[in-house]
Amino acid sequence: MSLSRYFVLTETPTGLPRQDQFTLKEAHLPDLGPGEVRVRNRWLSVDPYMRGRMSGVTTYVEPYDLDAPMEGAAVGEVVASRHAHFSEGDRVRHMAGWRDLAQLPGDDVESLPNYDVPEQAYLGVLGMPGMTAWTGLNRIAGMQPGDRVLVSAASGAVGSLVAQLAQTADCHVVGVAGGKAKCEWLRSLGVEAVDYKGKDASELSAALGAASPEGFDIYYENVGGPLLEAALANLRDHARVAICGFIDRYNATGVVSGPSNLHQLLFRKARMEGFIVLEHWAHYPTFLDEVAPRVARGDIHYRESVVEGLERTPEAFLKLFSGENEGKMLVKLS
Ligand SMILES: NC(=O)c1ccc[n+]([C@@H]2O[C@H](COP(=O)([O-])OP(=O)(O)OC[C@H]3O[C@@H](n4cnc5c(N)ncnc54)[C@H](OP(=O)(O)O)[C@@H]3O)[C@@H](O)[C@H]2O)c1
Repeated sequence: MSLSRYFVLTETPTGLPRQDQFTLKEAHLPDLGPGEVRVRNRWLSVDPYMRGRMSGVTTYVEPYDLDAPMEGAAVGEVVASRHAHFSEGDRVRHMAGWRDLAQLPGDDVESLPNYDVPEQAYLGVLGMPGMTAWTGLNRIAGMQPGDRVLVSAASGAVGSLVAQLAQTADCHVVGVAGGKAKCEWLRSLGVEAVDYKGKDASELSAALGAASPEGFDIYYENVGGPLLEAALANLRDHARVAICGFIDRYNATGVVSGPSNLHQLLFRKARMEGFIVLEHWAHYPTFLDEVAPRVARGDIHYRESVVEGLERTPEAFLKLFSGENEGKMLVKLS
């Protein structure tokens, strides 16, 4: 009952992490202390930002310590509690992921909201990725009805909600994704899709220009690289570029050169702004009020790629960088 299996990172990766740099360990948990809860995790989230935590340096968040239990969002069930707000059987979310059995202060655990959605939705469309989509569009890019919106990694956890929120705000949406299947799925949602695979910056720029001849008021950036250059070449006057992620460079070794056409920000009187969703978390209840009922009604579509078994968590994580995930990448524990 108290045996916890958890992943540690044993080496700081250079480039794409290798599976042998993650080790599964086990330990018996101590007796529950005052205010603590023990949670049997059912779903683990793996997210691109975790690559930054594996770099050994502080970005906007502390790096993972080598040989220490890794962290990440998880959803599970309370199996023991010495905290006044939690009882056995409560469904909760917390950050002690990458393990099957978690023990942590109850103050660091939150009850799942009560919408009619599967519990793992609180790791994806109604969790941090969903909140990120909503924040970038509304609080950073200042989306207005009728805007022409471009989003990269458009079929992913963040991107697919960006696309749909923009659609319902009567925006014209173009989504960039890798490969035919992902583009077909976007088209099935009514999103104009551009496949970036095999295209250099100038070919991408031409494809974006064809998809939206009048350019874009908003670029929701998840990727970086040649796509950013192509997007900058297609901005409209007073465009807003919300910098959410640069997944193209997370595994880069050596110097990564930036876009050659940053001057487009000047010519188009445009604004580019990065953001980290945690700084906006006070608005999570507003996001939930707005988006959760639509997810529960089935008006918002989301996909999940599920890998089963704790031991496959590193494999699930690495799929984010090969684009093998379709929507939110999750690990399901039995
Ligand atoms: N700022 C924040 O607070 C915040 C919070 C959450 C997420 N993010 C960022 O948002 C972005 C999306 O995250 P997510 O959780 O929704 O992941 P996701 O989009 O569900 O999965 C990652 C996707 O990125 C694409 N990708 C991977 N490597 C790529 C490359 N080299 N070039 C182009 N595309 C590549 C792949 O899609 P394709 O098959 O289409 O290439 C892959 O499926 C990430 O950059 C992440 O860091 C930022």
